[in-house]
Amino acid sequence: MSQYKTNDSGSAFLAPVLPDLESVDRIIRQQMHSDIALVGTIAEYIINAGGKRIRPVLVLLIARALGYQGEDHCTLAATIEFIHTATLLHDDVVDEAQLRRGIPSANVSFGNAASVLVGDFLYTRAFQMMVSVGNMRILDVLADATNLIAEGEVMQLTHVRNIAVDEGAYMNVIYAKTAKLFEASCEIGALIAQATDEKVRAAARFGRALGMAFQLIDDVLDYAGDTGEMGKRIGNDLKEGKMTLPLIYLFENGTQQQKELVRRCVEENDESCFAAVSEAVCSCGALEYTRSKAGQAVAQATQALAVFSGEGSGQYGKSLLELASFSVERSF
Ligand code: IPE
Ligand code: IPE
Ligand code: MG
Ligand code: MG
Repeated sequence: MSQYKTNDSGSAFLAPVLPDLESVDRIIRQQMHSDIALVGTIAEYIINAGGKRIRPVLVLLIARALGYQGEDHCTLAATIEFIHTATLLHDDVVDEAQLRRGIPSANVSFGNAASVLVGDFLYTRAFQMMVSVGNMRILDVLADATNLIAEGEVMQLTHVRNIAVDEGAYMNVIYAKTAKLFEASCEIGALIAQATDEKVRAAARFGRALGMAFQLIDDVLDYAGDTGEMGKRIGNDLKEGKMTLPLIYLFENGTQQQKELVRRCVEENDESCFAAVSEAVCSCGALEYTRSKAGQAVAQATQALAVFSGEGSGQYGKSLLELASFSVERSF
């Protein structure tokens, strides 16, 4: 009874790893168990709500593309999903989010304190799981990644309601908070497959570029997406005073009046801002610009995969390329 559908628009890339994903799900279910009932309740609440499972799929596809035949890639994929889920629990508290994966976010249903603490449980369980695989290089990659993600979220916090944030500062934040985990997912997939250093580096480059594209599109969808389809409320970035690339572009290229609008809406928390700002963002070319940056990143990701040569051209390599396209074409 798989929850993963290969005929969903754009998710055919899952097909070669569907059996692996079933194992990942089993591991997730075993590992989220705790004797403390509230831990299991909240972990189940967010994990049962679904999610696209993009990062674990990356671990699986890269490991398989590089010829891995064992089972540890499934443990690593579950580990990555735990780290991701922990960051979502924490992020929704920080962003005061209301909706996640189509249901009220855990902070709304269980409160901030419980969300933060269960996020910590999932983070630390992830470390127990990665240690069980017993590969020092993998531990090194994941320790660095989790540390940088935390820095990325703090960096973003220090930029809140700061109109001076530019594209360079924005790119640094999205690399740290999002792309690093994509990079690490691909890197550990290659490491568990005992790939050559050249291929490990190529896998990391692929993941990094894909992660940048993924967050760029997330930031487009926060203006132009559909709350129902996304399963999270659009407009939250502006409400939180986040200078994402669509807004940076509008501030730098808009009319004087639009600049003033952006300044006021970023500096003040005014619920009524979204309609006017999103109209300006949509009409000034900001979304096309942000999408074109995502497109460039996907082209870089595709290029990085060329190093996989023979392996990369198989079904797993094909899925990796499809996943890259999905990341920019997605609407959820
Ligand atoms: C959400 O990630 C957080 C970002 C980095 C944008 P996903 O869009 O992968 O979230 P789920 O796991 O599918 O819910
Ligand atoms: C997600 O950034 C980054 C992490 C969860 C670390 P966002 O704040 O843009 O993600 P969403 O939009 O809440 O999913
Ligand atoms: Mg958020
Ligand atoms: Mg977002």
